[in-house]
Amino acid sequence: MKIDVVSIFPVFFNVLELSLLGKARARGMLDFAVHDLRDHTHDKHRTVDGTPAGGGAGMVMKAEPWGSALDSLIAGGTDPLLIFPAPAGEVFNQRLAHELAAEKHLIFGCGRYEGIDQRVFDEYTARARVKLVSLGDYVLNGGEVATVAIIEAVARLLPGMVGNPESLVEESHEGGMLEYPNYTQPAVWRGREIPEVLRSGNHAAIAKWRAEQRLLRTRELRPDLLGDAD
Ligand code: ADE
Repeated sequence: MKIDVVSIFPVFFNVLELSLLGKARARGMLDFAVHDLRDHTHDKHRTVDGTPAGGGAGMVMKAEPWGSALDSLIAGGTDPLLIFPAPAGEVFNQRLAHELAAEKHLIFGCGRYEGIDQRVFDEYTARARVKLVSLGDYVLNGGEVATVAIIEAVARLLPGMVGNPESLVEESHEGGMLEYPNYTQPAVWRGREIPEVLRSGNHAAIAKWRAEQRLLRTRELRPDLLGDAD
């Protein structure tokens, strides 16, 4: 998979080098590049924002540098999916992570300030596939944190990224439910025991207990996932 990110804070993405990208690159699974939006400006101050047309608070990101940056990235004929993290977008979840993991080329456009000139969305919606994606119903200062989160959630779904692929099947949000509780040695810690069934060696009983626990926990903590919430 190829991932390009456009941002005015390229160093923000160094955090991905810590574990994810090194591993993915070594395994030849991810071609990742960050592009500085200011490299697409032509004035002395490398200006990326302007005052809002019609007045109002804050600043709006200018269309020209975005146009130049995105033109250069979509030129390769890879049929990329352009993702703009924004509070107005579709809320990100595990289903969407799987959907994005099936793409060949993702381009993230990280907006700041009051957002990006609307004509950028209009232009690229007419020319490419565009998605606005929100990390949740709250407002961040820009798209960078959301982009890091989305990349991490997507990249770990790429084949070969997680040591034991079975762990992906049983984790929270797979199959629309939360994960069952996990334990490891010692058998007793501060008087608290690992449930008997997990020490029984009876695989059918363990599978049944885990399935029940998934349902119980989901019902208790996230009934909305089961459609039980009112
Ligand atoms: N940018 C600002 N707020 C955001 C959010 N909630 N999700 C994604 N991008 C954002």
